[in-house]
Amino acid sequence: MFNDKQIFAAPLAGVTDRPFRRIIREFAPNAPIVTEMISCHSLVGGHKNCLRNFDRYDDEGAVGAQIFGADVALMADAARILQDAGAKWIDINMGCPVPKVATRAGAGAFLMRDHRLAGAIMDAVVRAVQIPVSVKTRLGWDDNHKDWRDLINIAADCGVRFAALHGRTRAQLYLGPAVWPDVHGTPIPIIANGDVRGADDLARAADLGYGGVMVGRAMLGRPWIIGQLSGGSAPANVGSVVLRHLEYALEYYGARTAVPMFRKHAAWYSAGMQNSADFRIRVNQMTDADELRAAIGKFWGCDLTA
Ligand SMILES: Cc1cc2nc3c(=O)[nH]c(=O)nc-3n(C[C@H](O)[C@H](O)[C@H](O)COP(=O)(O)O)c2cc1C
Repeated sequence: MFNDKQIFAAPLAGVTDRPFRRIIREFAPNAPIVTEMISCHSLVGGHKNCLRNFDRYDDEGAVGAQIFGADVALMADAARILQDAGAKWIDINMGCPVPKVATRAGAGAFLMRDHRLAGAIMDAVVRAVQIPVSVKTRLGWDDNHKDWRDLINIAADCGVRFAALHGRTRAQLYLGPAVWPDVHGTPIPIIANGDVRGADDLARAADLGYGGVMVGRAMLGRPWIIGQLSGGSAPANVGSVVLRHLEYALEYYGARTAVPMFRKHAAWYSAGMQNSADFRIRVNQMTDADELRAAIGKFWGCDLTA
């Protein structure tokens, strides 16, 4: 799975769903893409209201499925289910700071505070599947506990193949600039994450010893950025990309869910453009797919065939 100098698409809950991944893939045929985080409880329980529990990845190319949870056996079961669904690798979330995950569930970033549990989960997941396993973590819990190296050493001992490191602590959430430590000498390749936006960041990551980079928020409204950073170009007609993305979302979720869900994407795609505030206000009131299609077509002056 892992090759040197790859540019990964980061997991973004509520964003990197199957429709968004399809759009990323159109611009970056070979990029490794991580799914939104998937709860091991929800997945193993087969909760029907969560569509991603039933995704198949066979036709998606290099897609890693990210799981979160604190239950060792359930995490292993979840990894097996995702392997059977065609995921190319399994990623374990060890960085999510939101209270629902990191404190109440004892998962995500909480695993940075409990290295024994983290080790037990990594060990069980690696043993459960034949595909590679990675982890995604942060520098540590807070400024006084930047012990990412310890966690990476445990990961390597468990057979984890590589790790993405977000250059912030749990306490920092998403605030302040990400700071990437020098990672020369780690036993497994480390992917730099946090504020990756341009070609300069790729060079900086390589200098610091990283094996690649992972792009998160820079993809919002610009799902072509990974393709662009890999030598491709931005689309000549953004409107047709937006319309295609909407069609994929309608196909996947159905109009009742897709239309309101697409509002944030419409806002991101149109950010900074003339009359975008007005466009956003109108889109935020829409519930009908045809109306939304027409508004997008008019705003960008295009249709699906463009
Ligand atoms: C809306 C949103 C959702 C996220 N969801 C996840 C997630 O499901 N799993 C995860 O490991 N990280 C998640 N993250 C963290 C990102 O993957 C990434 O580590 C972080 O945004 C820093 O990278 P960036 O500066 O390139 O955005 C999320 C971040 C945002 C802003």
